[in-house]
Amino acid sequence: MSRIETLIASMTLAEKLGQLTMTAASFTVTGPVIAGDSTGSIRSGEIGNLLNMVGPGPVRAVQRLAVEESRLKIPLLIGLDIIHGHRSLFPVPLAEAGIFDPVLWEATAREAAIEGAADGLAMTFAPMLDVSRDPRWGRTVEGSGEDAFLAVEMGAAKVRGFQGTNLAAADALAACAKHFVAYAPVTAGREYASVDISERTLHEVHLPPFEAAVRAGVATIMPAFTDLAGIPMTAHTALLRDWLRGRTGFEGVIVSDYNAIRELLNHGVAADLPEAAALALHAGVDIDMMADAYRHGLPIALERGLVAMDQIDMAVRRVLRLKEQLGLFDDPYGRCRTHESDAIIARRRALARKVGAQSLVLLKNDHDVLPFRTPMKSLAVIGPLADAPGEMRGPWPAAGVAENHVSVLAGMRAALPDAKVTHAVGVSIEDDDTSGIPAAMALVDQADSILLCLGEAAVMSGEASSRAHPGLPGAQAALASAVLTRAHFLGKPCAVVLFSGRPLTVPELVDQCEALIAAWFPGCEAGNAVADVVLGKVSPSGRTVISWPRSVGQIPIFHSERRSGRPANPADRFTSKYLDSPNEPLFAFGHGLTYGRFRYSNLRLSPQAVNVHGSIQVQVDLTNEGGRTACETVLVFTHDVVATVSRPLLQLVGFARLELPPGKTATVSLAVPAPRLQFLGADLSPVFEPGVVEVLVGPRANRADLLAGTVLMQTG
Ligand code: NOJ
Repeated sequence: MSRIETLIASMTLAEKLGQLTMTAASFTVTGPVIAGDSTGSIRSGEIGNLLNMVGPGPVRAVQRLAVEESRLKIPLLIGLDIIHGHRSLFPVPLAEAGIFDPVLWEATAREAAIEGAADGLAMTFAPMLDVSRDPRWGRTVEGSGEDAFLAVEMGAAKVRGFQGTNLAAADALAACAKHFVAYAPVTAGREYASVDISERTLHEVHLPPFEAAVRAGVATIMPAFTDLAGIPMTAHTALLRDWLRGRTGFEGVIVSDYNAIRELLNHGVAADLPEAAALALHAGVDIDMMADAYRHGLPIALERGLVAMDQIDMAVRRVLRLKEQLGLFDDPYGRCRTHESDAIIARRRALARKVGAQSLVLLKNDHDVLPFRTPMKSLAVIGPLADAPGEMRGPWPAAGVAENHVSVLAGMRAALPDAKVTHAVGVSIEDDDTSGIPAAMALVDQADSILLCLGEAAVMSGEASSRAHPGLPGAQAALASAVLTRAHFLGKPCAVVLFSGRPLTVPELVDQCEALIAAWFPGCEAGNAVADVVLGKVSPSGRTVISWPRSVGQIPIFHSERRSGRPANPADRFTSKYLDSPNEPLFAFGHGLTYGRFRYSNLRLSPQAVNVHGSIQVQVDLTNEGGRTACETVLVFTHDVVATVSRPLLQLVGFARLELPPGKTATVSLAVPAPRLQFLGADLSPVFEPGVVEVLVGPRANRADLLAGTVLMQTG
């Protein structure tokens, strides 16, 4: 018998349920702590998994209880939300996605895993694969934005990065694809609310990233808190057991979200804890995070005949197999390493600075206000986000401490050692007190250039952070208006840097300012990254991976909308539009300027006709007509003109990046495999229908900015 089968054969029910239980070690909590102190329960084998603890010392201590003092000596599995870095934080996922670089996405996850594993952890609850088209939803920040193809590509890269090539390696973490599935379209963007979307949208948009994560070998998956049309995901047998396990062949561990099994009672699908536990187990949930529903509910469910011991054994088998794959049986302390050398940490920070700078999105740059001309004598860095190192972390900071973060003020001071860099807050992030504005205005009068740092606090996005009014909080609009008007009057260059976990509805700010950078939350090197871009050391190249609505009334707004029978026509009232707003977003998906100026020409598509086994070679010439070297991201969209099911106006199918010096032309070449032109037919099974497909190439999801050609899809 194998080690695992021998163990299962010798386990008591309590020990089995211990392996199916994960409880918090109180480092961070995102819900009630129900299990209480775990020391005794680890010794007795009644707790087999922990979340939220950090550090080789504490991890060794609890691991020792399990492998030396418990009867069966089964090691603990310990996890933490390592979302965008562990101690050295990288930009939040929404920002990093806009770099459109799978190699880099993988590299930052690898670094995060190395740091997390050195702290004794074996699992991260990431990546988040939820496709969000609603900026009100705070968790938009944790994913790759509004596009399913991007979620597929980035999710797979993150899984590869976290897990490395060998899960047993001392620097590998088990990844957790979450939240399965369709958590993002919560009603009205309100956190934890009910979800009701079409089967088609579920299969076209929300399931593919999970399928890709499974193909990439993801070790674990977490069901969403939410229900889908009345069936909570934690108990969704059709999707968890039949689709995920049955269809994709996922054999890894399904770990519930925090207290989610107990919350089946609140959903109104279980009358008591044993029923809730039975529903989750039937659906295929192996680990109960924080609800203590398996430990207390399954023994009763067994007595009532609601579950069978075989089902419990199967879940235990999967958990033990994961522990084995992670190498925990062979070396339970393998991941608790002493701290890394300064040189390694410095290299990681250099990567954070590079990625931070690349993730900044230059939304607007009239009259080439940016980069600021150097050398400069004086700069005023104004606003509540200017000297806010802790905020630069963004939500889910893992073990990243505020003191390790470079504020914009510190970054600008370091970059401009000979200039007078002054600072005033003006207003705080959230309250309405405007009494600090005059002091800020005095600095505008004295400085040569002004950098205005506005936005959200880190806690205003992430879990439980929906906003009905996702604009500039507090009195920041008043500060912005005062500073921008004054700077304009004085003819001084002024740029705005906006920190946020979502696109903000800021049409007035966009109108008023000449230069605007969406910085999201750039991580530990934030201030240096901002300085690199603002002072022209690095040309910005980030793109927004989510449309910026003008108002909440436009939400949901996304580029892959389907067609209307009455497409918008300004001359015809009875067409698809608003009476009081343009249809178009403030900034389209993919928008982001550089310090170069790219012209696209000479789109070539070959062959002219493809079948499902083929591939389309897309080539386009790019000329940098600007005055600086810059990096351009080329997006490739398709549009199936006539199909049995109406197809999206634009569907992202590929992307590539290219750096070009001024005056140079180069060809970007990429292949679009023909299966990407398939879609789900009326019965939701994939079809490759003959007909014309448009291929559109350019910088952003706006038809006027795209070169278009056509290819014929043919069968046989
Ligand atoms: C709740 C969140 O929904 C989930 O994403 C996270 O992994 C767990 N809490 C653990 O912190």
